[in-house]
Amino acid sequence: MDDSVSLDRKLEMLEAELRHSRRMAALGELVGTTTHEFNNILTTIINYAKLGLRHKDEASRDKALAKILAAAERAEKITNGVLGIARNRGSERVATDLAKLIESSLVLIEREMQKYRIAVEVQFEPVPQALVCGNEIQQVLLNLLTNARQAMPRGGRILIRLVHDTAANTVDLSIRDSGVGIPPEVLPKIFDRYFSTKSGPDASGKGGTGVGLATCREILEAHHGKIRVESSVGVGTAFTLKLPVAPQEASTVHIPVPKLGVPTASATSAG
Ligand SMILES: Nc1ncnc2c1ncn2[C@@H]1O[C@H](COP(=O)(O)OP(=O)(O)OP(=O)(O)O)[C@@H](O)[C@H]1O
Ligand SMILES: [Mg+2]
Repeated sequence: MDDSVSLDRKLEMLEAELRHSRRMAALGELVGTTTHEFNNILTTIINYAKLGLRHKDEASRDKALAKILAAAERAEKITNGVLGIARNRGSERVATDLAKLIESSLVLIEREMQKYRIAVEVQFEPVPQALVCGNEIQQVLLNLLTNARQAMPRGGRILIRLVHDTAANTVDLSIRDSGVGIPPEVLPKIFDRYFSTKSGPDASGKGGTGVGLATCREILEAHHGKIRVESSVGVGTAFTLKLPVAPQEASTVHIPVPKLGVPTASATSAG
């Protein structure tokens, strides 16, 4: 780089480059996972198309077409999820439905979780929209889910929850696993860049560089949010993201979100 470029500017450029590389690396990992999934979907489509051609009666053909449609719709969801990450280059924060964001992230790693015998459960309370950059929070989610999966080498359970912390005015997204847990002496180091207890990438090509949680923390800081961890060896680990609630401007509220204990009719008042 040119000497006349100020140090601040150089740092800014390097950081932008780093953010870009990280997004590309995350995308590369996803391509591996989703290609397998696509293959399965194509097999389904091919088999039912053959079945439909073989059996000329209406009932068999309807059944074949319904199966083909369902498979194609699943493929569409997956491509949308991947494109969402690839396309969204900016880091603009907008009012976002986190439940939808979680669902579209889960569809991308569903198969991987099945392969490692991990049951994923979700518990969504009605929450307001959060002010976030969707693709960045999706990156955080995928990092946390991969860590959780790697902490359960013999399978286990992941619970994803969404709750509204009315006192702090945050939407809290937590990911709890039933994995090995983190010893108390290790816990203070896990957010340090390049800290890892893994020997290298696993069979799915993921993990081992120690940048996952450092990236998560940076993203949360940029969101004026928080990331917290609780862990107990032999029991499991829970990470909680505290994200700011989006300001409720009349023009940005598309779907009234019913709050617990508040009559929904009040959400339709003229504004
Ligand atoms: N859910 C979890 N259960 C147990 N240990 C965890 C969990 N999440 C993180 N850790 C510990 O924290 C360390 C750092 O995690 P981090 O995601 O930053 O790096 P990594 O997973 O080792 O590598 P990568 O850069 O590929 O993510 C891990 O190596 C692991 O020891
Ligand atoms: Mg990791």
